[in-house]
Amino acid sequence: MSEQNKMNVPIARTSLTETEIQSVLGPLRSGWLVQGPKVREFEEKWSVFTGAPHSIAVTSCTTALHLSLAALGFGPGDEAIVPAFTWIATANVVEHLGGKVVFCDIDLKTFNLDVVQAEKKITNRTKAILPVHLFGLAADMDPLTQIARQHGLWVVEDAACGFGSRYHGKHVGILGHTGCFSFHPRKAITTGEGGMITTCDESLAEKLRRLRDHGAAMTDLQRHLGARPYLLADHPYAGYNQRMTDIQAALGSAQMDRADAIIRERQNLAMGYDQAFSHLTWLRTPAHMEGLEHGYQSYPCLFQPEPVTLESIPRINQARNGWMDRLQQAGISTRPATHAVHMLSFYREKYGLKQEDFPNAWAANDCSISLPLFHGMTNEEQNYIIQTIQNSCF
Ligand SMILES: Cc1ncc(COP(=O)(O)O)c(C=O)c1O
Repeated sequence: MSEQNKMNVPIARTSLTETEIQSVLGPLRSGWLVQGPKVREFEEKWSVFTGAPHSIAVTSCTTALHLSLAALGFGPGDEAIVPAFTWIATANVVEHLGGKVVFCDIDLKTFNLDVVQAEKKITNRTKAILPVHLFGLAADMDPLTQIARQHGLWVVEDAACGFGSRYHGKHVGILGHTGCFSFHPRKAITTGEGGMITTCDESLAEKLRRLRDHGAAMTDLQRHLGARPYLLADHPYAGYNQRMTDIQAALGSAQMDRADAIIRERQNLAMGYDQAFSHLTWLRTPAHMEGLEHGYQSYPCLFQPEPVTLESIPRINQARNGWMDRLQQAGISTRPATHAVHMLSFYREKYGLKQEDFPNAWAANDCSISLPLFHGMTNEEQNYIIQTIQNSCF
């Protein structure tokens, strides 16, 4: 690759229109900066897009997960089943509430929770399951919610990457007790930091709204629009401050106006990769599952220059890292799809875990590779990536 032809393509790039950029000026000019009319507008648009009867904006997906478990009553000594391959936040919120994280292996084909294994992890202390719709592909929710109902467990969906992901026609986030979304800049809709909780349960929604706002029975907006705005609300809970700002919500709300186009563009980019790499035996592209619509928060592949087995993982990992180095030198940013949380030192040491305890999560950790995918990617950029990868040899 000559330096002259080299391009630089990041793993993700935020793409905002001028209208979206200008949208943040509204709250700045109005002076209503924190959880006001723009948060309400963003929540309403989110509900229309996802079909969720209730949407509650918060400060991040992590706080959405935390608030969900807290509102449901999850507490010290309770166990929660968490996939071993996910972002660490899914497990951390269980720790923050004094619970025990019970890791479960994944299905290497989808990178999502292995539901058969999950059922085997249930004990009389299990209170919750946290399925993750990893990278935009829905977890296997029908059997999972059935098992949860049989055992009286809460299902908190980690839909951080789930925008535009549908499970047999239903948007993720309305299949369990709550769904938790992220607006981190690597996600399809971004507010810098930010999150959204969706739920179909009205009384749970009311509790979540109060808990995010110091436990107040009434929001500032309701108070200001009410008959006696000068009187303060009661606080039936010792809540948290997990309110989104109106500046963030204005940005999120403006992006929702092109939500369909954003998802379509990401799906088209993924299709371009799928077609270009279909003949490569050493690169397994993301799974297509019957009845599931992938939102493509990212494009996670499995690097498999030889069959992935416990014995071959270290060799494949070395080859993958070498390939990532070469792609980086060619200006193409890649990442392992995410991490195996049981291999991170906090969890490894606290629970005495070994990498082989969850072999598929270990394989995914060591052999996965996400390629750049973001709306706003040019044809030239994607063709450059495709050509570079097609010229790689394994
Ligand atoms: C699966 C998963 N869960 C949770 C989170 C945490 O999201 P946030 O950064 O909005 O707290 C992420 C972030 O990337 C994620 O990928």
